[in-house]
Amino acid sequence: MTSDAALRPHILLAPMQPDDVASVLEIEDAAFQSSWPDNAFRHELEENRLAHYFVVRHDDIIVGFGGIWVIMEDSHITTIAVHPNWQRRRFGEALLLTLLEQAIERNAAWMTLEVRVSNQSAQRLYQKYGFTTVATRRGYYTDNQEDALVMWAGDLRGPLYRSRLAALRDQLSKQLVF
Ligand SMILES: CC(C)(COP(=O)(O)OP(=O)(O)OC[C@H]1O[C@@H](n2cnc3c(N)ncnc32)[C@H](O)[C@@H]1OP(=O)(O)O)[C@@H](O)C(=O)NCCC(=O)NCCS
Repeated sequence: MTSDAALRPHILLAPMQPDDVASVLEIEDAAFQSSWPDNAFRHELEENRLAHYFVVRHDDIIVGFGGIWVIMEDSHITTIAVHPNWQRRRFGEALLLTLLEQAIERNAAWMTLEVRVSNQSAQRLYQKYGFTTVATRRGYYTDNQEDALVMWAGDLRGPLYRSRLAALRDQLSKQLVF
């Protein structure tokens, strides 16, 4: 594990802007089996007041993105991805941490998401952040009728989850400058 800031990768997390959408679509295309309709991100950014989207930049390039909806105490991850060329550098983890912190800041008490049953990398990431599987949605993904696992993390504002998140942030900040 590296502690010298000069050796740790530097990343910048920021709210997604309309000008970021072209890069986001390229990453989405590379990272996912199926993509959102072309205008979906613009709609989310410009019309959906419940939606909060973020990008992660490394060396001034957008390398990943993620989004949440926050509805009262409920928050939902709508998407999260890192470009395949930049995966396994903890950028996805930094994105997930940001989504959780942003949801908590907006008073969310729990977070849910759907993930393909075959997507073990993402499931491991979510488990690391305290998500557990609470349900299965049969045939949820229309491209191949794959089932989705519904994962859930609760009591986000409680002391246990906050200290878990603080420990994970601490660990991550020894590996990345963000
Ligand atoms: C899921 C995704 C966002 C993870 O991003 P990433 O930057 O590659 O992952 P990180 O380097 O931050 O890894 C963080 C944790 O995720 C898990 N993980 C990520 N990739 C993994 C892999 N290939 N195998 C096993 N675990 C993996 C691990 O728990 C890892 O922590 P650890 O190394 O301490 O065990 C990325 O793989 C991705 O964009 N996948 C395609 C899109 C997608 O599936 N999105 C999720 C939809 S639900």
